Amino acid sequence: MPKPLGKNEIFYYTGYAYKKLQDPIFFIREILGVERLTRDQIKIINSVWENKFTGVKAGHSVGKTFLASCIALTYVVTHIDSVVITTAPSMRQVRDLIWAEIHKLYYGAKYNIGGNLLQIRLEMGPKWYAEGVATEVGKEEQSAVKLQGYHAPDILIIIDEAVGVPQAIWEAIDGIANSENARILAIGNPATIHCQFYKNLLSPEWKSYTVSALNHPNVKQKRTVIPGAVSYEWVKDKIRKWCWEDKPNPKYKTFEFEGKNYRPNNLFLWKVMGEFPLDDVDRLISVEKIEQAMNREKLYNLNICDIAVDVARYGGDSSVIAVNINNNFELFTYYGLDLASLANEVIEKIKLYKPKRVGIDADGLGAGVFDIVNEWRDNTESYDFVLIELHSSAPPQDDDSTEKFYNLRARMYYQLSKDIDFIKLPYDEDLLEELSIISTKVDRMGKIIISSKEEIRKKIGRSTDKADAIAYCNWLKYDDRDVKLYFVD
Ligand SMILES: Nc1ncnc2c1ncn2[C@@H]1O[C@H](COP(=O)(O)OP(=O)(O)OP(=O)(O)O)[C@@H](O)[C@H]1O
Ligand SMILES: [Mg+2]
Repeated sequence: MPKPLGKNEIFYYTGYAYKKLQDPIFFIREILGVERLTRDQIKIINSVWENKFTGVKAGHSVGKTFLASCIALTYVVTHIDSVVITTAPSMRQVRDLIWAEIHKLYYGAKYNIGGNLLQIRLEMGPKWYAEGVATEVGKEEQSAVKLQGYHAPDILIIIDEAVGVPQAIWEAIDGIANSENARILAIGNPATIHCQFYKNLLSPEWKSYTVSALNHPNVKQKRTVIPGAVSYEWVKDKIRKWCWEDKPNPKYKTFEFEGKNYRPNNLFLWKVMGEFPLDDVDRLISVEKIEQAMNREKLYNLNICDIAVDVARYGGDSSVIAVNINNNFELFTYYGLDLASLANEVIEKIKLYKPKRVGIDADGLGAGVFDIVNEWRDNTESYDFVLIELHSSAPPQDDDSTEKFYNLRARMYYQLSKDIDFIKLPYDEDLLEELSIISTKVDRMGKIIISSKEEIRKKIGRSTDKADAIAYCNWLKYDDRDVKLYFVD
């Protein structure tokens, strides 16, 4: 149990009572009892006390949310009659991430810090509190109005996951920032440059920081200094998967690790180094949207049940079966299966899911799988589905598309890029990498092309097997004649 802390003790431990605390690090260490802060965390905490606008772009699991929670609690307790607002894109993130950390800090503190702690609110006095607000896309107007209603001489707004924050929210925050003592802290994984957060970080008004997982003590010291934060093994694995050895070149943000120079891909840049992706203008789908699709809640009632199969072309590739139930996708990956065994797996999935449509990539080896499944279908009465032979390298068949797309593959991927806001993808790092690397161009005839399998193989050393299976599977709902269709656009 924390020791109760009277007013005199706060005075003693912080050097002042109910006045502005000059040294937040002292409070975090001595009152909250946080034993270790990283150098980056210390710099950012001090910046919030010294600057009006602090922006932090940071890699994965480096302690962003923890830091935001420490700052929220410290600021509200040490500023009489202050208001602290913490925001995140969804209520789940507000409650289960930042406020869960605030609860841990509050109850784990060395001294009783007083006030009344509720699920996403800490009341210190009548007009003195911290509170969590979700800035959900789609409800941003309501959240913006709510934000505009907060007033206090000392107000701090903490924006976690700042990349997804809608424009209306930034405008509301700008309004609040007009008051003299207002403080804004925006923290995020810099997944895309197409956001206000990117512009803010470039603005001279903002004090900006970058936190790379490469500099985290757990990684530098190759041991767990801070439990739960990013690990050396994770970073090492990402270097192996997402970087290649290259000459130093600041343009590509190359870095040195254990005596070798590496050039990072875009995923490594934002996930590990906390840097915005380079050249993401040609990307068909932004990583941010892919991640949103992977974190989406389950979808219901669309009357869709389809299966698609991407068949491996080369020894190192995998065959992938994608299943789409009401726009929730699942993936099943197989290495080194012969065609008959793969066909058998497809048949098992058909028996299990009873799909309406089954599409098989029948370019190359896939034709063998198609034939086996087709024969089985002709000999069974129990399962009724439309079997579709997909030829992704052939021109698309529907009249509207032939003019517009170089091949069916481009058509299918383009459709996926449109639908990404409405579907739920499985969380899979290979899929994330594959989808994020696919770029789009227009050829001399004005037709849309997307990266070929060969181009991608050169970049990442394998094919986009999982991404292809998803693109095919998503396409099936548009490709049919007999069944009722659900169109997104
Ligand atoms: N200084 C610290 N002291 C103790 N624990 C910490 C510290 N920094 C981070 N942690 C812990 O490390 C874990 C990861 O931190 P956190 O969730 O804040 O990272 P993040 O950067 O927000 O991650 P994500 O990229 O998933 O949003 C959490 O369990 C958190 O409690
Ligand atoms: Mg976080």
